[in-house]
Amino acid sequence: MTGDLLTVEGLTKTFTTGGPPWNRHRVHALRDVSVSVDTGRTLGLVGESGSGKSTLGRCILGLEKAESGSVVFDGVETSSLSGRALVDFRRRVQPVFQDPFGSLDPRWPVGRSVREALDCFAIGTPVDRERRVLDLFDRVGLNPAFATRLPAALSGGQRQRVGIAAALASNPELIIADEPVSALDVSVQAQILNLLMDLQSDLGVASLFITHDLGVVEHVSDDIAVLFHGVVVETGDTDQVMTAPQHEYTRTLLKAIPRPPSDHQTGENHASS
Ligand SMILES: Nc1ncnc2c1ncn2[C@@H]1O[C@H](COP(=O)(O)OP(=O)(O)O)[C@@H](O)[C@H]1O
Ligand SMILES: [Mg+2]
Repeated sequence: MTGDLLTVEGLTKTFTTGGPPWNRHRVHALRDVSVSVDTGRTLGLVGESGSGKSTLGRCILGLEKAESGSVVFDGVETSSLSGRALVDFRRRVQPVFQDPFGSLDPRWPVGRSVREALDCFAIGTPVDRERRVLDLFDRVGLNPAFATRLPAALSGGQRQRVGIAAALASNPELIIADEPVSALDVSVQAQILNLLMDLQSDLGVASLFITHDLGVVEHVSDDIAVLFHGVVVETGDTDQVMTAPQHEYTRTLLKAIPRPPSDHQTGENHASS
């Protein structure tokens, strides 16, 4: 990992929980976190619930402000961005969330939500944008006729396809995908993962792929970073981490991946799986 596209260095983020002063406490969501993403590659960020994954994604997107550390995108420190440079950063770094229900306006036909992304970044002429919405639907495997439907009329998988179309509308160079398949049925998960991987290889877009599931990370990532209680305990390329994990916590995650019993396994293993 050279981090030529994104380099996060020494990021620390603490939340103070609400409530009366005598009942407040501080949560160290991220402690001195450093990760990097290379152009066109996928970094899988894995860790159990509450380990700080979403907070890291949100800090990179600028939705959350870290106390210390830096986020450098394409050579520029992002906390100092403003005006056109900030709009350009937002165009180049796009989020995909767990369930786009939250990000799609329930009153709008989904095509309008995708169109909004094009309008927001003033991409193409108005006529181009109409065509591009339909192209994007096609690209994510949705019949363009779906563009006129409301989010509630779509299945979870179809909504996530719309969410991906909206993220791709601005031709981003980096996608921050936060548990993009966790809310979906298992059968649909594989379809959406394959779609994301196909799009990435076709378009050359890089991604930070956030998940609690090391089995998913193994499938989609070039590199892996393991987060444990806000600390990165292991990073490396996917093969290296999966075959020779260095940290005890990574080994625990690995053991939790359901695997079909292989030939050399004993009956004991079969019985325990
Ligand atoms: N806005 C917030 N206010 C207070 N605590 C928060 C907030 N967001 C996250 N946290 C806490 O920070 C920790 C990391 O959360 P999060 O980044 O959502 O983890 P993950 O995505 O890995 O499940 C958790 O303990 C969570 O409760
Ligand atoms: Mg999360």
